[in-house]
Amino acid sequence: EGNSSIDFSTLTRQTGFTGLDYGFVNTASTQSAITYIDGEQGILRYRGYPIEELAGKSTFLEVAWLLIYGELPTADQLGEFDEKIRHHTLLHEDLKRFFSSLPHTAHPMSVLSSAVSALSTYYEDSSDPHDPDHVELTTVRLLAKLPVIAAYAHKKSIGQAFLYPDNSMNFVDNFLKLNFGNMAEPYTTDPVLSKALDRLLILHEDHEQNASTSTVRLVGSTGANLYASISAGIQALSGPLHGGANEAVLQMLARIRDSGEGVGKFVDRVKRKEDGVKLMGFGHRVYKNYDPRARLVKESADEVLAGLGVNDPLLDLAKELEQIALEDDYFKERRLYPNVDFYTGVIYKAMGFPTRMFTVLFAIGRLPGWMAHWREMNLDPQTKIGRPQQLYIGEAERHYPSAG
Ligand code: ACO
Repeated sequence: EGNSSIDFSTLTRQTGFTGLDYGFVNTASTQSAITYIDGEQGILRYRGYPIEELAGKSTFLEVAWLLIYGELPTADQLGEFDEKIRHHTLLHEDLKRFFSSLPHTAHPMSVLSSAVSALSTYYEDSSDPHDPDHVELTTVRLLAKLPVIAAYAHKKSIGQAFLYPDNSMNFVDNFLKLNFGNMAEPYTTDPVLSKALDRLLILHEDHEQNASTSTVRLVGSTGANLYASISAGIQALSGPLHGGANEAVLQMLARIRDSGEGVGKFVDRVKRKEDGVKLMGFGHRVYKNYDPRARLVKESADEVLAGLGVNDPLLDLAKELEQIALEDDYFKERRLYPNVDFYTGVIYKAMGFPTRMFTVLFAIGRLPGWMAHWREMNLDPQTKIGRPQQLYIGEAERHYPSAG
């Protein structure tokens, strides 16, 4: 914890040491001042502020500012930021046609990543990673347009018309309207839904050097622009061992319910590692204690479902599964606890999002963190192109057989 100005490149050169560390379990790739995690104690802080305080008192955009610029914004700064974002929500009309070139069965995460990549083609003259004005503009454009792209990916998957963003609405309400509004009737906002979604987005905003953030940094370290880096980060997030776990949790709960095998039998199969089956939403590379985000999400789940008037037996199933797992030696010995994804799916489902949109919601939440890291990396004088070493274990030199 705290600041340090160690010159790691020089240290590495001086020791001449190459470590082999599959999955980077023990190797830091950078210094960072954005997020602090203590996995043993279950602590998460953004720029020093405990996640519990931010989730209770702040808003998604305020935390985005905090992550990106390092301090909480003043009321004026936040107002200006919000205003700028509202004025950059529109997508180029040609880009809207891009969605029709994809099949309606396309996974919304693939659509999201492809559309962000496509977005860069509209802004080639204003996306220089070394021009601070371009970086500012791209930051605002991505924050404004990613939710719109996400909502269009959703609308496309259910065959409904795209709505235009409504700049009179705040960030979260606008997003909800784009997803759940339609051309025929006026959309009324539901404060329970807005507050719950805003809170979930805050909980996802950053998590230091996870797989997708490291991807964003690695791509950015080549000098690629922010659109390219974020598009790659979205793809990294899509995997079921990372952000895709929230979708996988719901599929797992539904399978347990439909098969009628019971939670106990399912847990036994996980312990036997039958067909590689895992308890999705459990375990974390860094947390070896309860994930503090999971605690907050679990608290929200009952509140949100009650507030929305939804009674979902899958929530009861999730609680039963958690209880059985927490008391079982297999999970205790391996220090496996629920992670942030365990309960989010039940809430997203209650809000009306289809399962395939869950990881897209994670991506919208994580965007500020990705951008904060990309910017930190670009401003760090020690940054070099990311280029891991390897230990070669292939054939020694051999020769192509001569003819005849
Ligand atoms: N269910 C059953 N067993 C598990 C689980 C799980 N969810 N997670 C880990 N284990 C077991 C492993 O099989 C291994 O057992 P072994 O020692 O007998 O071989 C042991 O626990 C250690 O697990 P690793 O895979 O070495 O842990 P690692 O840190 O590499 O993986 C990960 C972390 C990927 C999150 C893993 O726990 C997992 O696959 N969880 C399920 C997917 C998930 O929920 N991902 C979301 C993570 S949070 C996020 O990205 C937002």
